[in-house]
Amino acid sequence: MKEKLPGLRLHGATALLIALCAALFLCAAAAETKLMVVSDLHYLEPSLYQGSELFLQALRRGDGKITQYGEELMSALQKEIFAERPDALIVTGDLTFNGEKQSHAALADWFATVEAAGISVWVIPGNHDINSPTPIGYASGLYYGVEGVTPETFAEIYAHCTEKGMAGFSYLAKVSDRLWVAMTDVSYYEEQAQTFGLFTARHATWLEGALRAARQAGVTVITATHHNLIAHTDYIKESYLMFGSENMRALTDKYGVPLNLCGHLHIQHIAREEGLADAALGAFCIYPHRYAVVTLSDDGALTYDARALSEQFLPEGFSDRSREWYLTVASDKLKPSLTGTTEEIELMADYAARFNLAYFSGTFHGEDPVWTEDPAYALWEKQPNASFLNYMKLVMREASGSHLHLELSADKP
Ligand SMILES: [Fe+2]
Repeated sequence: MKEKLPGLRLHGATALLIALCAALFLCAAAAETKLMVVSDLHYLEPSLYQGSELFLQALRRGDGKITQYGEELMSALQKEIFAERPDALIVTGDLTFNGEKQSHAALADWFATVEAAGISVWVIPGNHDINSPTPIGYASGLYYGVEGVTPETFAEIYAHCTEKGMAGFSYLAKVSDRLWVAMTDVSYYEEQAQTFGLFTARHATWLEGALRAARQAGVTVITATHHNLIAHTDYIKESYLMFGSENMRALTDKYGVPLNLCGHLHIQHIAREEGLADAALGAFCIYPHRYAVVTLSDDGALTYDARALSEQFLPEGFSDRSREWYLTVASDKLKPSLTGTTEEIELMADYAARFNLAYFSGTFHGEDPVWTEDPAYALWEKQPNASFLNYMKLVMREASGSHLHLELSADKP
């Protein structure tokens, strides 16, 4: 069970005055419940990579994670949270780089500092967190195996910000007396972690009980998962959309759940289907370092706003360096597969990196002619290997609409 942090002992008039002030504050503040959400931190404890060129090489082959600056990111996130003052922080999995026990322990301590400031933290694991096959550390020219975590160790490390129940780490986060979040752990890590997510009959039994309890209490309830509950597009479906999503959807439909918070895609992307929005949050470890603020207002309306980590909380020039890192990683990965002159290859790779940055950060608009009018797009159309061109065409055909902002009615059916 979630352990509450001990309170201060106060006496006499001081206690009375504080109680009155708190009551007045609660009356004024009860109108709104505010969550902050982050996903896919992929944090690696610094002693597991510091000074390792091999680690930087691994990141350069990756998807733009800037994990070598994990400390700067977590420090900025803490300042952002303390400035925003939400009622709770929700973390939808992929806490660690690859499930290292040391990274989990450091993160759990970091979450405790947020809780000590009076902000609840609620966590579910992702596909990289438990029974990972590859928890490793990096030295100068080699990597080495390190201790990972089992479900039991995960439960011990995060005892203050998660709960283990009949369906893994699925539990109700009772954020306020008006808003609950059904934290639904669909990651599959029996024996060894798998990429896919699975909503089982046990999940269904647990979730129906949770949603029924929320209905009986007259509380607005949303869900949170690591994997997606709606297929965001045909080409980002496999391993992203959880198996058994239709069974979870049946319950969210039955109980009028308007919003599922998730991650896993590493793309800031909102899918909508018949009364439900599935808001996949961009990976925090990748520029522009997204987090979301979800607000339940006094009239029952829910808003979702995806934001970039504020530059004021980051070291000077960090945002530019992080953006450049993403663009360099993305373009360098593509160049070997491109044909043309050096100049043409540079143009195409730069274009594709900018395209992907806009798409992954949730700011891409397919109807904007700037993408098809760019001279590099004409070069892409002549490429013999068309897979990336086909991907870009599919992205351009996606329905328009904001992937950063949502306004939803939380009315019950
Ligand atoms: Fe991830």
